[in-house]
Amino acid sequence: MTFDPYEIRKDFPCLERKTSTGRKLVYLDNAATSHKPRCVIEAMEKFYYEYNANIHRGEHALGSKATRAYEDAREEISRFIDANDYTEVIFTSGTTESINLVAYGWGLKNIKNGDEILLTIMEHHSNMLPWRRVAALKRAKIRYLDISEDGILRYDQLASLITERTKVVAVAHVSNVLGTINDVRRLAREAHRVGAIVIVDGAQSVPHMPVSVRELDADFLAFSGHKMLGPTGIGVLWGRKELLEEMELLKLGGGCVVDVTLEDVKYMEAPWRFEAGTPNIAGAIGLAEAVRYLKRLGMKSIRRHEYELTEYCLKRLNEDGHLDIYGPLDASLRGGVVAFNVKGISHSSVARALSRMGIIVRDGMHCAHPLHYRLGLKGSIRASFYVYNVKEEVDALCDALRVIVEVSESLRNVKDHEGECPTG
Ligand SMILES: Cc1ncc(COP(=O)(O)O)c(C=O)c1O
Repeated sequence: MTFDPYEIRKDFPCLERKTSTGRKLVYLDNAATSHKPRCVIEAMEKFYYEYNANIHRGEHALGSKATRAYEDAREEISRFIDANDYTEVIFTSGTTESINLVAYGWGLKNIKNGDEILLTIMEHHSNMLPWRRVAALKRAKIRYLDISEDGILRYDQLASLITERTKVVAVAHVSNVLGTINDVRRLAREAHRVGAIVIVDGAQSVPHMPVSVRELDADFLAFSGHKMLGPTGIGVLWGRKELLEEMELLKLGGGCVVDVTLEDVKYMEAPWRFEAGTPNIAGAIGLAEAVRYLKRLGMKSIRRHEYELTEYCLKRLNEDGHLDIYGPLDASLRGGVVAFNVKGISHSSVARALSRMGIIVRDGMHCAHPLHYRLGLKGSIRASFYVYNVKEEVDALCDALRVIVEVSESLRNVKDHEGECPTG
């Protein structure tokens, strides 16, 4: 199948809508959440219309069908990330919950006074705050791997930052601000040398490129369904079997036990022991459909498409002398995320102006405040691409930025000349 974003767009009903001012919608906020293709919406609708039932409870016809669909979804996702076994896949509500589960379920049990947790300065708050809380509770120390001027991790610092005291290395596979693709294999090699575990925040990688947990050699991988064409409220924690077995349960209730007496309780095996309560059944079914859709497009083709858009966008933005661009300028080192600022104009003014022109980008600190402080910024504007974005949308963004710069310069000139007496 050839990868044709113009054809792909037709599968996404929301992209057909016009903005409130009647303009064509240019959606470049995919790092925040993606749109959903018709097949995902229909798969969830079919569940509610045709076989809505609770799962793992009773063997009636509807329940069996729903249980099968939910467990099939787990298998589909385990194949997608190249896991050894589908029992290594836990359904959660998203990346945030997945990382919290590891931090509290594994971290509180295994991290002790004086131990160290290595994070990077570019982490999203979701992969920073749970570890900081665990460190505070266990009197452990957090250390941070810094970045170079072009937004690449300072691997040269690893030798001094990973020591016998390091218990956890937590890293984003792809930064949600700089776009940098981090060398997880290298971090895993260094971490494993001292017996530490590696948790990878895959929120910005799993949707956009082939990801194999076996190749990454990490111990945990977290990602969200809604950023990969799936619904909100569903996500995944993948973990090595032996680590899942020693992880504490955070949620207790129905659906996670084999037996309960007044004296005792016997919990199920992983992953079911971590999924107490009625899970997001429709969400899992929708996510599996999204994965099938992504597989049809081909993850390598998706990566190539986003690489081309990113390279083009970086080139065009770079031609405009009025912009500061963050992260590596070489598109092969980054995912489809481009953060920048327009010199002399606040990020919120630019984003508001773009929005009026029908161009949807995100502005602010993108849940990465420490990274922005490190860069000396109060915020940035972020354009992020996905399967349905086309070159003309990059042009629309760059042309609109040009207009914003020109208007702002004209206004500045008018202001500078205000009060001058006209001559002649
Ligand atoms: C790198 C990264 N990590 C974690 C998250 C949190 O994802 P969620 O809100 O789906 O839990 C995001 C979302 O923007 C992200 O970009």
